[in-house]
Amino acid sequence: MSSSEDVLKSLVSHSKEYGFVFPSSEIYDGLSATYDYGPYGVDLKNNIKAYWWKAMVQIHSNLVGLDSAIFMHPTTWKASGHVDAFNDPLIDNKDSKKRYRADVLIEEHIEKLRLKIEKEIEKAAQRFGESFDRDMYLKTNPRVLGYAEEMKQVRTRMKSALEEGNLEALRNLIVDLGVVCPLSGSKNWTEVRQFNLMFATELGSVSGEASTIYLRPETAQGSYVNFLNVQKSARMKIPFGIAQIGKAFRNEIIARQFIFRMREFEQMEMQFFVRPGTEMEWFEYWKAFRIKWHAILGLGDSNYRFHDHIKLAHYANAATDIEFNFPMGFKELEGIHSRTDFDLKAHESFSGRKLQYFDPELQESYIPYVVETAIGLDRMFLAVLSASYKEEQLEDGSLRTVLAIPRCLAPVKLGILPLVKKDGLPELAMSIFNALRLDFTCQYDEKDAIGKRYRRQDAIGTPYCITIDHQSLDDGMVTLRDRDSMNQERIAINDLKLLLHERLDMSSLLQQLI
Ligand code: GAP
Repeated sequence: MSSSEDVLKSLVSHSKEYGFVFPSSEIYDGLSATYDYGPYGVDLKNNIKAYWWKAMVQIHSNLVGLDSAIFMHPTTWKASGHVDAFNDPLIDNKDSKKRYRADVLIEEHIEKLRLKIEKEIEKAAQRFGESFDRDMYLKTNPRVLGYAEEMKQVRTRMKSALEEGNLEALRNLIVDLGVVCPLSGSKNWTEVRQFNLMFATELGSVSGEASTIYLRPETAQGSYVNFLNVQKSARMKIPFGIAQIGKAFRNEIIARQFIFRMREFEQMEMQFFVRPGTEMEWFEYWKAFRIKWHAILGLGDSNYRFHDHIKLAHYANAATDIEFNFPMGFKELEGIHSRTDFDLKAHESFSGRKLQYFDPELQESYIPYVVETAIGLDRMFLAVLSASYKEEQLEDGSLRTVLAIPRCLAPVKLGILPLVKKDGLPELAMSIFNALRLDFTCQYDEKDAIGKRYRRQDAIGTPYCITIDHQSLDDGMVTLRDRDSMNQERIAINDLKLLLHERLDMSSLLQQLI
């Protein structure tokens, strides 16, 4: 088993054991690619949502929120292109009967070539030591150049096959590359076929006829059809944006890798309406803003990279992904898309209603262009969890599992622990708990030895434990234990609230975004 599989397995079992994520309907053996969030998972998710919402809506005076319905008029999806074009090219392996996304198989082949280049560089860096010049090596080493050229050729072939919708060319590429099924190891592939990703259901319609409606595959369309409602009611001037957090549904044929790819998931999306011709400036603005939003969380700069789309979606004139280094490698975490006027224009034409903005400065009406930022909440959750999960060997030889979750996102902020269950310590601890619980999510725990209680808080990522001991009764001081360094400091009970606000509040992060 590869180590990345090990890491993912550890995350899955830790998430279950400590109440972050459970397999859905587990008593019936679960439902594939569907998960439930447990007590700490909900809080972590809510904190991620709050960080996004504050950074987007609260900081930007030209962003407002919306919570549109999951069900929308079926023509919405005809207009948006999802009925006709929201497909995945799928290929089956005849021996394992496993189904794969053809483009993903090819992307994985490209990733393998990239890793080969990295390996060459690593070896050379060891060989040459201090004098190693990475850029020069990349430009001159024949083996590296060969891999890079191969990557380029594969990308070009894939791009043109996807753009032309040429499924045969896609299959030929898989065959030519000698891609093998990871399960059976065979190259016995079917043809490539297109599958629509939308879930359809029936709604008893007004006239009594059943009509097909869809579970929304993205929240964005709710923002488009409400564009004028929002603009007029909130008196917004272009450029302005509509932010939305909500569930989306996709009939992913290959749904796996824990909560990375699910059929029911949550998105945090923002549609930014701009003057036509200014969209590339805003595309760059949102790229820079969004990567900063990620970076200041401190999950490690080297865990992020941009990946420009090879094949643009039917609505886009520019698109990039922010990829994160998940346990299974770099994968899409967030998309930033310049969606042109495609959606609003289509809704105008299908609905027969004007979706134009009168620009008072230009004294003219136009359909705005849209720049979108779209991040999966569940993927962000997985990014936080995987970067935070650590198994450490302590000086005394024991092991501790700790979730070094960014403090302001931690589900429980404070563990409040009387050293012993007697001598008035629980009473003092409880009074501290009551004084802090309105400001912070606190957990009171008096069961088991103190070391064991610290381990329990480490495992759910609690940034601070407050320990109340006998001396606390005399001097009004308590011990504040830091999750990551395990350092302990004595703090006056009266100073706790202020100090903890400074260390735990989201505002110090948000400040860096202004
Ligand atoms: N409105 C644009 C849009 O939906 P997308 O790139 O298809 O763009 C946005 O989706 C984000 O939603 C992705 O970057 C990813 O984080 C998340 N996402 C997409 N499909 C997902 C799935 N099946 N499971 C979990 N998250 C998903």
